[in-house]
Amino acid sequence: MISENMFDPAHYAKVRLPVLQAETLPSWCYTSEIFYRREVEHMFKRNWNFVGREDELPKPGDYVALDMFGEGIIILRDKSGQLRAFANTCRHRGTKLLQGRGQCPAIVCPYHSWTFALSGELVAAAGMERTEGFDRRRYSLIPIRLETWEGFVFINFDDDAPKLRAYLGNLPEFLGSHCLADMVCVRRNEYDLACNWKIYLENAMEEYHTPTVHKLSIGAQVTVREASTGAWDGMYMPTDHTIALLAEDLDSEFPHIPTLDAKAAHGMYFAVIYPMTFFAFTQDCCWWLQQFPQGAARTKVVIGSCFPRATVARPDFSERVKRYYRRWDKSLPEDNAISELQQAGLSSSLSKPGRLSFHEPVVRDIANWVLDRVLDERAHGHAD
Ligand code: FES
Ligand SMILES: [Fe+2]
Repeated sequence: MISENMFDPAHYAKVRLPVLQAETLPSWCYTSEIFYRREVEHMFKRNWNFVGREDELPKPGDYVALDMFGEGIIILRDKSGQLRAFANTCRHRGTKLLQGRGQCPAIVCPYHSWTFALSGELVAAAGMERTEGFDRRRYSLIPIRLETWEGFVFINFDDDAPKLRAYLGNLPEFLGSHCLADMVCVRRNEYDLACNWKIYLENAMEEYHTPTVHKLSIGAQVTVREASTGAWDGMYMPTDHTIALLAEDLDSEFPHIPTLDAKAAHGMYFAVIYPMTFFAFTQDCCWWLQQFPQGAARTKVVIGSCFPRATVARPDFSERVKRYYRRWDKSLPEDNAISELQQAGLSSSLSKPGRLSFHEPVVRDIANWVLDRVLDERAHGHAD
């Protein structure tokens, strides 16, 4: 840990260089709670954060309660079918209202039964009749901005941030032929890991580790960088078959999405949508790795898997999809273990910055995306 101001740009001059000249981030960026709190306030809370799929909340009253960097959030579908996000805190004395996932016709506080409609309005507050000047209409749930793209749901704590579509830049152009709005999330798995969120994201966005870490599962991968505008970075990997199956299971491959354009039909995309979600879009499915940071050195990782509606409707879907799960359940623990090992090494006070390979341009760019938002001179928070 350094004793001087860790947000002084002078510490990071070498991280700012092009990838083949650059150094990695100093270890305190992965271990310091002070650095993490700056990321929360200047980065996570001012940008669009992926929270899940629309199809995970299909009916009015479906809700999920999430914890995002210490903020309790409710995402729900209201009676009119609209998705909404609220702070998970009662307007009476602040109690957390909902937990986990479920279905409710209205939100009833577990403490004194104040009752909120799915639209957020306070509709019942028994016992408040004598309270002077109490106007129920002024005690609705606190709304949070929510926007969607092709069924992917994002929230933003910053009322001044640009709209989601502007934030995503040209990403939708690359994925237009995947018909992502027509996908269904069929599984989510969670892992609680002893590592910083950036470690996990960097790992997901570099191929350098694949021949070593995944030598017994998915093996080496070779990618080319895509030219991105907006708050994402991506790679394209040429391949004629899905990479969501292990090589020995390719006979179980589902039909490819029929609308794919020529490039998408012969390859797949890896993308990070900043600040912290990794996506993989293959010819027959897509999946994401979502980080829920719990502090500097702890991260809940959620892997979600989506398939086209027509694939999910196949009579053999539930049997064949097990091969896909097998692939993720084999490769993910390999990434989990190496990420925790990297965190353990970076926690040494003797650890010093290293250098990067040509395989790791996005590792350099993730570091710089963070620095652009947290350092003293440049803290802003919006998409480039
Ligand atoms: S804290 Fe919610 S009703 Fe009292
Ligand atoms: Fe990996």
